[in-house]
Amino acid sequence: MNELTIDYKAEILKLKKELNAVILAHFYQVPEIQDIADFVGDSLDLSRKAKATDADVIVFAGVHFMGETAKILNPNKKVLLPDLEAGCSLADSCPPNLFKSFREEHPDHIAITYINCTAAVKALSDIICTSSNAEKIVNQIPKDQKIIFAPDRNLGGYLVRKTGREMLLWDGSCIVHEAFNEEKISRLKSLNPGAKVIAHPECEEMLLDKADYIGSTSALLKYIQTDDAQCYIVATEIGIFHQMKKLVPGKKLIPAPPKETPECEGCFNCRFMKLNTMEKLYLCMKNQSPEILIPENVRINALKPIERMLEMS
Ligand code: 13P
Ligand code: SF4
Repeated sequence: MNELTIDYKAEILKLKKELNAVILAHFYQVPEIQDIADFVGDSLDLSRKAKATDADVIVFAGVHFMGETAKILNPNKKVLLPDLEAGCSLADSCPPNLFKSFREEHPDHIAITYINCTAAVKALSDIICTSSNAEKIVNQIPKDQKIIFAPDRNLGGYLVRKTGREMLLWDGSCIVHEAFNEEKISRLKSLNPGAKVIAHPECEEMLLDKADYIGSTSALLKYIQTDDAQCYIVATEIGIFHQMKKLVPGKKLIPAPPKETPECEGCFNCRFMKLNTMEKLYLCMKNQSPEILIPENVRINALKPIERMLEMS
């Protein structure tokens, strides 16, 4: 069997049985991977699934911090990631040594940290959040408690405006969600009467100001099913269109235009998420590698703020 003749779908399904594996995929994965996964979800639901699974092997079709979260929750299971290079600009923006110093400079602040960060940064945090539960978590913190929010300045800024809480924001951002152009979006909206702009809170404030609805990937998917508009301009990573088209086949869905040229290929495609392919998914299951491994002291410290998140969501 050479690589050209491999039926990846059939082989992956066979390996899944042999390994007693579960395949978890994020909404930003390529359609073939979403379709073969046992569960497709947002960061919060994927963490919940990772915690609940009784499979022996978790195959994480997502980015590195997601695989790490699954491993933190399941130290005795093997967690495989198709490509270890599948990182995240938000996680990269927050090196643990700098985050540690920042925390030491502000000893009276607790740290609520977005799940898009490394295990080492989680280990230095008090509570983890995702875009689905961040507002709910911030609202549960006593009013007199000072808060650091890291690493996404855009999600952090959105939370400050939504909750009215002052927070010290880390200066990180998502390369995909900062690539949209709000003026082009307004023009597109006027060309499509009745269209609504829906956006992920990782987008910049100027764009969020133009949005009719702001939410996590799963919230956006729910919204387009219950809302009665027939056309949406969607400001998040393009992979989500696969589920959107399945859920509302009759509605018009337009990707939000990027800041640069219209053919700007990388703009609404997360280059980290798209490192995963069917071939790499198959190979990682066949070789049982690459595997996510985390030093036990880091894992134990990172588990506490994740468990707090799960309790508070
Ligand atoms: P959610 O799916 O949790 O909304 O997160 C989006 C994201 O950028 C994941 O990398
Ligand atoms: Fe990170 Fe942005 Fe890619 Fe999500 S879309 S993995 S936040 S770079």
